[in-house]
Amino acid sequence: MSLKVSVFISTSLDGYIARKNGELDWLDAANANVSDGEDFGFIQFMQSVDSIVMGRNTYEKVLSFGGWPYGTASVIVLSRTPIEFPDDPDHNVVSSAESLKDLCLRLENGGAKRLCVDGGITIQRFLADGLITDMTINVVPVVLGSGISLFGSVEKDITLKHVATKSFDVGFVQSTYNVKSV
Ligand SMILES: NC(=O)c1ccc[n+]([C@@H]2O[C@H](COP(=O)([O-])OP(=O)(O)OC[C@H]3O[C@@H](n4cnc5c(N)ncnc54)[C@H](OP(=O)(O)O)[C@@H]3O)[C@@H](O)[C@H]2O)c1
Repeated sequence: MSLKVSVFISTSLDGYIARKNGELDWLDAANANVSDGEDFGFIQFMQSVDSIVMGRNTYEKVLSFGGWPYGTASVIVLSRTPIEFPDDPDHNVVSSAESLKDLCLRLENGGAKRLCVDGGITIQRFLADGLITDMTINVVPVVLGSGISLFGSVEKDITLKHVATKSFDVGFVQSTYNVKSV
């Protein structure tokens, strides 16, 4: 497969993407100190992807913000239960319960070159299936002590190759890794 399957995510220093209850207040507080116009390369990253694949929990969290941040970009929500999407023709969103490999193959056969994968459980499942190619992790200088883990427990080591690390005045440290194929 030549498809790139990428992660671009923010974590606490101790590796959590949200509090246990899903709250992102710590991330909002950190982002409040970010200079106008600084997006840590997120917009460029999003422009490079053909579809965003997210877990149902992440989708529900995004909806709770009250807007739709993805414009007309293709969004695929993974869930084993049916989802009723808002009746808005501008939302290019569908659900899928395919196996992750089948999903990747289908999207690649449809012309996709790069996917963005979002959500803790979802990223962990893609990693377990050896499908993630690269990860950009923005580490926020806060320790939460508990929460929803980016990696959780793993059945076997995941070996990565460091590509680059960049630090920002606000204190975020962004590292990019390629995931070695399993
Ligand atoms: N810090 C950040 O940058 C960042 C980024 C993204 C998300 N978050 C936060 O992370 C939290 C959500 O993460 P999460 O780990 O709880 O969950 P998640 O990965 O967003 O969603 C998990 C759900 O997705 C569905 N799913 C995942 N893989 C599937 C598969 N292969 N086939 C079918 N369905 C599949 C299942 O839904 P069903 O149970 O319906 O089948 C599963 O329960 C939210 O609080 C969100 O705000 C933070």
